[in-house]
Amino acid sequence: MRPRRFEAARPLRGTIRVPGDKSISHRALMLSALAVGESRISGLLEGEDVLATAAALHAMGVQIERHGAEWRVHGVGVGGLLQPANALDMGNSGTSTRLLMGLVASHPVTATFTGDASLSKRPMGRVIEPLGRMGADITASPGGTLPLMLRGLCPAVPISYRLPVASAQVKSAILLAGLNTPGITTVIEPVPTRDHSERMLAGFGARLELGDEDGARIIRIHGQAEFSPQQIAVPGDPSSAAFFAVAALIVPGSEVVIENVGLNPTRAALFTVLRQMGGRIEELNPREVGGEPVADLLVRHSALTGVEVDPALAPSMIDEFPVLFVAAAMAQGRTTTSGLEELRVKESDRLAVMAAALGAAGAQVAEREDGLVIDGTGGDPLPGTTGGPIATQLDHRIAMSMAVAGLVSHAGVEVDDTRPIATSFPNFEALLDGLAG
Ligand code: S3P
Repeated sequence: MRPRRFEAARPLRGTIRVPGDKSISHRALMLSALAVGESRISGLLEGEDVLATAAALHAMGVQIERHGAEWRVHGVGVGGLLQPANALDMGNSGTSTRLLMGLVASHPVTATFTGDASLSKRPMGRVIEPLGRMGADITASPGGTLPLMLRGLCPAVPISYRLPVASAQVKSAILLAGLNTPGITTVIEPVPTRDHSERMLAGFGARLELGDEDGARIIRIHGQAEFSPQQIAVPGDPSSAAFFAVAALIVPGSEVVIENVGLNPTRAALFTVLRQMGGRIEELNPREVGGEPVADLLVRHSALTGVEVDPALAPSMIDEFPVLFVAAAMAQGRTTTSGLEELRVKESDRLAVMAAALGAAGAQVAEREDGLVIDGTGGDPLPGTTGGPIATQLDHRIAMSMAVAGLVSHAGVEVDDTRPIATSFPNFEALLDGLAG
C-alpha cells in the first residue's frame, strides 16, 4: 500500500500532455501482433495494463521492443499466435483479458488467464458466452471469473451476436476472434460503444462493413484477414485528461491547457456534460491523430451547476463518472445520474465506492441502484477526510478522482493506496504536483 493525503492546491496553471489512450494502446499492440512484419507505435501508454497485453503477446510468440519513444512489434500474422508456456497474468486489466480471450479463441492455443484481486471478481461470462458459441472451450472459476482456461478452436465458427450489455470489450473480443475465423462474423450493437477497434481494424486492412438496422449498429468482419504492418500514433487519453479537466474547473484561479486529447465522439461525453454544467472548456487546434479526432483543451476555473445527466451518454463517458461525481460535489445544486449499472462491475463497484468516498470527504451523496444523486457545495471546499483513508479497492480511477477532490478540501483527502494509478496513468502525481507547485 502507498497511502497519500492530497491537499488543497494553489491555482493550477500550465500546459500538460497526458499519456497515450489506454484502449487504443491495447488495440495497437494486438493488431500489430497480427500483421506480417514490423509495425511501429508512437505515444503508446506505458501503463501496467498495456504492459500486461505486451507481455501476453510476447508469451505467444510476438517480438515487441521499445526503441526510444517508439515501440516496434514484429507481427506473426493472423492465425500465427503460439502456445504460451505459462499462465497469462492480466494484472488489473479487464481490457487485456477480454480482448486477448477473443484473439486466443480462434487460435489452436490453450491459455490460462489470471489476474489480481480486483480483476478476479469481474464478470467474464459476457465474453465466455459468445466465444463459446464460436467454438472456444472455456473453464472459468465460479461465477464466470478468473482464473480461467481457454482452449481455442481453429477454424472457429462465425457467429452473429447481439450484445446484451453495452460493452466495447465484448464487441472487440468477438471481432478479434472473427479475424481468424472463416466467413463473416457479425456483432449487433443496440447501444453504440467506443469504436477504436473498428477504426484500427479498417486501418490494418481488415474487410469490415458497418451498417445500421432498426437503430442498432451492425459490424461485419470478414475472416482470415491479411494485415500489413502500420505506423500508429496513439492520441492522449481523454479518460486521463478528465482528471485534470475537472481539477482545473473546480480549483479557483486555474487555467490549464491539456494537449493532444483524443476526442472520439464515442469517448468524449464527459466534456459535453461538464460544459452543460457551465464548465469553460475550449478545443484548440482540432486535428486528426492515428485516425482519431484530437484537440488541445483549454480549461478554466468555472462556477458549475448541477445537471441531470442523460443516461444515453453513459457509454461515451463510462470511465469518467467517478471524476464527474467529484465535479458534481462542487457544483451548485443537484446532479442526478442514472443507467449506470455497469459501473458496479468495473475495477471496483464505482457507485458504492464513490458514494462512500465522497461521503467520507463530507459531500452530500445518495446511492441508488443505477446511479448517484449528489448535492453540491456551490464551490465551497469539502470538509475532507479525517476518519482514516479512502478505500480505493485497487481502482486507479477512484484514487485519481479522490486526489482531485483533495485539491478542494479543508483537511485534504487521504487515499489508502496510490499504486493502482500506474495501471493507466503512471505520471499522474508528477503532473499534478507540477501544476499545483
Ligand atoms: C474499454 C471498454 C470499457 C471501459 C474500459 C476500456 C475498451 O469497458 O470501461 O476501461 O478498451 O474497450 P466495457 O467494455 O466493459 O464497457
